[in-house]
Amino acid sequence: KITLKGKDFLTLADFSKEELMYFIELAIELKEKQKRGIPHKLLEGKTLAMIFEKSSTRTRVSFESGMFQLGGHAMFLSKNDLQMGRGETISDTAKVLSRYVDGIMIRTFGHHIVQELADNASVPIINGLTDDYHPCQVLADLVTIYEKKGSFEGKKLAYIGDGNNMAHSLLIGCAIMGIDCTVAVPENYEVKADILQKAQERAKDTGAVIKQVYEPVLAVENADIIYTDVWTSMGWEDEMQDRLKAFAKFQVNEELVKHAKDDYLFFHCLPAHRGEEVTAGIIDGPNSVVFDEAENRLHAQKAILASLM
Ligand code: CP
Ligand code: NVA
Repeated sequence: KITLKGKDFLTLADFSKEELMYFIELAIELKEKQKRGIPHKLLEGKTLAMIFEKSSTRTRVSFESGMFQLGGHAMFLSKNDLQMGRGETISDTAKVLSRYVDGIMIRTFGHHIVQELADNASVPIINGLTDDYHPCQVLADLVTIYEKKGSFEGKKLAYIGDGNNMAHSLLIGCAIMGIDCTVAVPENYEVKADILQKAQERAKDTGAVIKQVYEPVLAVENADIIYTDVWTSMGWEDEMQDRLKAFAKFQVNEELVKHAKDDYLFFHCLPAHRGEEVTAGIIDGPNSVVFDEAENRLHAQKAILASLM
């Protein structure tokens, strides 16, 4: 029996394969209900606080609409409007907000901030992106893979680009669900060694092959899914010029995708920069599922909210 009430959602590594499957199936069920207009007000009278220290389109709007569809309420709090922006501690913020709301979603920089919030709050904390992880995005990606491919076993995902929060969460998510995952990164932009190791550890249960290479073609060979993300993530804007040079050979383009399976799917968490990490022909082409993927943020997060709160 799976009970997730009261838990935090900080990284996918905190969950078992069965628990992630539970979220995925619930997301698909809630999606069906929403499409057919069947009410599913599982969070009537509940409130979610949403703290944003970085920009967002998808995360903000999907959480806010998701809470509304579940019969609850979401409140957008930008760091500049909170006393946190003037130095109030994370722990005091956590304790105070816990007296008002039933859950807190936060998008911030260091992963330790989310951890500290969770350590001091008495309500569930949901990670809406940190420098290290983006678990809500990857849960939505897993929903999308499951819908489009029917299963995870034996599937192969190639991630091309920066060893960033997306790469980390994909490694962990794939390892747990049994998807082979190869990340191809330029030198000096590798994934964190401890996160790669953690993913390889988790992959022992599923037999997934988890690795990092320096050559995009090696990752894409025979892939079912090609995934990429921006070359410059939020918070690294100062490095943009250097990154444009370092990532020049890591573009997902017409030449690279020839190495994947014919029915490969193209994924991108968005926002995208056409002409940088991906060509317009690929992201706007027939194999791209980026808007289904973006839509699934809504359904996946409703499953998280309904389970935790
Ligand atoms: N993919 C994603 O998290 O998008 P936003 O930054 O728009 O929330
Ligand atoms: N890696 C990107 C993801 C945005 C959704 C960033 O952190 O900016």
